[in-house]
Amino acid sequence: MLNRRDLLVQMAGTAGVVLRPSILGDITPDGLRDIAARRGLVYGCAASTFELRDAEFVLALAREAGMLVAEYEMKRGIIEETRGVYDFSAGDTLLAFARSHRMTLRGHALVWHHKNPSWLEDALSSPRAETLLTEYIAKVAGHFKGWLHSWDVVNEAIAPLDGRPDGLRNTLWLKRFGPEYIDIAYHAARAADPTALLVYNDWGCEMGAPDNDRFRAATLDFLEAARGRGVPIDALGLQGHLAAFGPQVDQKKLAHFLDSIHAMGLKVFITEHDVYDADGPMDIILRDRAVADSSRRFLDVVLNHGATIAVLTWGLSDRFIDPPSLRDQLIGRFPRQLPLDTSYRRKPMWNAMARALSS
Ligand code: XIL
Repeated sequence: MLNRRDLLVQMAGTAGVVLRPSILGDITPDGLRDIAARRGLVYGCAASTFELRDAEFVLALAREAGMLVAEYEMKRGIIEETRGVYDFSAGDTLLAFARSHRMTLRGHALVWHHKNPSWLEDALSSPRAETLLTEYIAKVAGHFKGWLHSWDVVNEAIAPLDGRPDGLRNTLWLKRFGPEYIDIAYHAARAADPTALLVYNDWGCEMGAPDNDRFRAATLDFLEAARGRGVPIDALGLQGHLAAFGPQVDQKKLAHFLDSIHAMGLKVFITEHDVYDADGPMDIILRDRAVADSSRRFLDVVLNHGATIAVLTWGLSDRFIDPPSLRDQLIGRFPRQLPLDTSYRRKPMWNAMARALSS
């Protein structure tokens, strides 16, 4: 027995009516994964194992996502909480779920300056410190070898405001090994899993403010130099964290930047897309519309560029977003930055993404 939505879709198809994405979100069974796949693209999202215990969410996740990434459970603070003891259970659970739902899984993140185990910083002061980088990458990328679509090998290594001529962020890794830590990490990842695309992941290149101009320039210089040294980087990951009521994407600047990335032979992933709406009005309709408009403005550029192969949002539903400030909770203003609402219903952002993916 067809339900109302499927009946409408079938009647529209029979009548030769092409359903515009603006109403698509309400009646089509197609998920963002199907819409993306029709253009040879992948749509996915960040997920966590606790979310997989919600049967209703699993239905929405299986319908919408063609790729998963661990929001936090494949970071070093989880995998190697105790030095030398590796816990892959959460990553293995996400991998098994992905495989059983015809999804791929991407890895995030081998080298970052946040969410490291408490023992790491002291351990880096030891003489044999380099093995703390290379052995971890060999162990973790080796464990998932052959099963992952891609790895965010180094995450957020660029920070022009830190004032270095090379634009690099002054992290514990840079302090201990110098800029070479980046080369070491990518070569170790390639050796451990030659099948995974190796991605450099960062934020700051999306919007059009002067600081973003500096970020884009530093990123291009960084990637150009790394590729020139033979560092095996296959793609740039643009995190895609936007702000509905903040600085907006400058479409011309972004398109020009992507042209430069493409000219280097690099692919582009949108790895953590969401649209922060905390500075907006209380009115949900206005916030949802602004979130959708910001997402569409960004995706129209990145998805109409030959370099882009995948778009992932940093979660699928507003339900699992970290709660806002106590003040916002008291006035009842909760984040609405993802494609589905807290009841897993499609929002204007879903429609905007469907339009961008299908246009
Ligand atoms: C965040 C997760 O959302 C949190 O759950 C976790 O506690 C910390 O990391 N840039 C990144 C992501 O590359 O890994 C971060 O995710 C958000 C910023």
